[in-house]
Amino acid sequence: MDHAAYPALRLRRTRVAPWSRRLVAETVLTPSDLIWPLFVTEGAQVEEPIATLPGVSRWSLDGIAARAREAQALGIPCVALFPNTPQHLRTADGREATNPYNLICRAIAAIKDAAPDVGVLTDVALDPYTEHGHDGLVDDRGYVMNDATMQVLTEQALVQARAGADIIAPSDMMDGRVGAIRRALEEAAHPNVQIMAYAAKYASAFYGPFRDAVGSGGRLKGDKRGYQMDHANSDEALREVALDLAEGADTVMVKPGLPYLDIVRRVKDRFAVPVFVYQVSGEYAMIEAAAAAGMGDRDALALETLTAFKRAGASGVLTYFAPLAARLLGG
Ligand code: PBG
Repeated sequence: MDHAAYPALRLRRTRVAPWSRRLVAETVLTPSDLIWPLFVTEGAQVEEPIATLPGVSRWSLDGIAARAREAQALGIPCVALFPNTPQHLRTADGREATNPYNLICRAIAAIKDAAPDVGVLTDVALDPYTEHGHDGLVDDRGYVMNDATMQVLTEQALVQARAGADIIAPSDMMDGRVGAIRRALEEAAHPNVQIMAYAAKYASAFYGPFRDAVGSGGRLKGDKRGYQMDHANSDEALREVALDLAEGADTVMVKPGLPYLDIVRRVKDRFAVPVFVYQVSGEYAMIEAAAAAGMGDRDALALETLTAFKRAGASGVLTYFAPLAARLLGG
């Protein structure tokens, strides 16, 4: 409790000098807090800029290896991989997701070769592999089938683990999938592969540029509200997190980021586990658009938002600003 009052108490005193602000800072952002999402595409020496995600490109495997070396040099501990699957390999059943030689599995190997000290996180969901753009298998009425999808996701997680993934991140929001994947990893002798559950993942209007990046956006029939969470809900997020932890998740994620800081704080306070936030494509694109229009300072906006995630209780952030932020932070 503060017993003193003005003028004995002047809260500005500790703010006046930079050294003092540093000394009393409650939250510190470092490159160690960052996970860098990367988009993978086929070919050699390919860089495809993504129009709706300024400054972000899809890279062929050689470029992915170079980005991993860059992450290592910048002190970024982990990268997250997302494929732009060639159109002819997208099917109703998303079977390319379970091909041990698919883009993601080859990208894992390329990274482990180029930068063995960088952690590799892989997304488990079918949307980059299905012709309809949904995260799971769809029945003839358009319903995404939970249990049938879970079987494919489990297989997908196993091929990723076999290829060397360090963190399996199910982003599909099927019920029960964390437990199914955890059991499969144990049975297949991958006891130390982590699961970062996209536990509280909301059906959001902020995912648009990502869907362009993986080529699923134009295909998507309907929306994902039948499996991703309603943005009106917060208690439900706690139930999702509780279930994923009980099923064997090591860490949990809240997604999107900035509009959901209240969820991050509630999850952290309730469960005291490592919580991650995904600053998603639409959040990044809005800052980029504002900066390009002269409406704000990109570097300052990036660092302020990233620090806000940590202040809210996050252990780390998946962000397209990762290399920029690491450079600004002297990584
Ligand atoms: C796929 C997935 C999505 C994102 C991460 N994994 C999109 C979606 O659920 O439609 C979004 C990331 C971003 O917008 O940056 N299941």
